[in-house]
Amino acid sequence: MRVLLGGGSGFVGSALTQLLRSRGHGVTLVSRQGGQDRITWEELSHSGLPLCDAVVNLAGENVLNPFRRWDDAFCREVFNSRIETTKTLAKAIAEAQQPPRAWVVVTGVGYYRPSPTAEYTEDSSGGDFDFFSRLVSSWEAAALIPGSPTRGVVVRSGVVLGRGGGAISQMIWPFRLGLGGPMGSGLQPFPWIHIQDLAGIVCHALESESLRGILNGVSPSSSTTSNGTFAHELAAALGRPALLPVPAWVVRAVFGAERASMLLEGQRVVPKRTLESGYKFLFPELSGALKDIVA
Ligand SMILES: NC(=O)c1ccc[n+]([C@@H]2O[C@H](COP(=O)([O-])OP(=O)(O)OC[C@H]3O[C@@H](n4cnc5c(N)ncnc54)[C@H](OP(=O)(O)O)[C@@H]3O)[C@@H](O)[C@H]2O)c1
Repeated sequence: MRVLLGGGSGFVGSALTQLLRSRGHGVTLVSRQGGQDRITWEELSHSGLPLCDAVVNLAGENVLNPFRRWDDAFCREVFNSRIETTKTLAKAIAEAQQPPRAWVVVTGVGYYRPSPTAEYTEDSSGGDFDFFSRLVSSWEAAALIPGSPTRGVVVRSGVVLGRGGGAISQMIWPFRLGLGGPMGSGLQPFPWIHIQDLAGIVCHALESESLRGILNGVSPSSSTTSNGTFAHELAAALGRPALLPVPAWVVRAVFGAERASMLLEGQRVVPKRTLESGYKFLFPELSGALKDIVA
């Protein structure tokens, strides 16, 4: 397949590009910057969809960028970078002379309401109670192409764990120094996925000709992982015994109250349809995933 990958230059996109190429597929990125094997968003809007078999969108301003204050301007950037890029790709697909076979968007488990007890599958409701849930609803609505022959899949991802980016890159140094620990109470659920599994699920969605609809992008053991378990396992994988809890007020001071809720609260998410669709996880257990990442 020739795959067009919006936002493919980032953390998840690099892993997905590597996986797709290793499976013999070709990849062209859609980026804010042109270059080899890339087109820009302006070129896409102006010239329409290049000939391709599948389209994926991963574009989005990094929500947990600690160097950006959580103000209206940043909220708009977080929102528009996801919704506008998704709309641009959906419009290009709808207007394509030869539409692609598959269209995959990676959104987030922020769709489901944080709760210490409720367990969510792809059929659970959500999407309308705070900034992040409404963001996901708008993002997924932007991806809809009524009447299109193109098969659509949405992967609702948990926290992506991998080397050289994402949550681990922000946490690893305090943990290496023995200064890391659970955030807040540490009891909140911690929905996570290894980056190779998120790339694997997207690839599986592209290659499975009859798969469509929502897939939860979390590991099978994610629903029983708390933030405290994660902190404990990360410290163990690094061989560091110390576990200093990070008080909730510190997390709120660094990230702002709304963004901090992503870290201080969490959802128990089950990848029910993902497993039923035949996807086999490479890293179903947290300890194995973390050993692979910090090795
Ligand atoms: N990482 C996670 O833990 C996680 C969890 C749940 C969901 N997700 C979602 O999965 C997708 C990929 O995540 P990621 O961690 O790979 O993201 P990332 O590396 O932070 O960013 C992906 C790409 O988005 C583009 N981008 C960044 N800011 C943008 C802006 N303001 N306007 C337009 N494009 C912008 C960049 O591409 P160019 O510079 O080439 O334009 C960047 O390489 C995102 O939509 C994210 O919300 C991620």
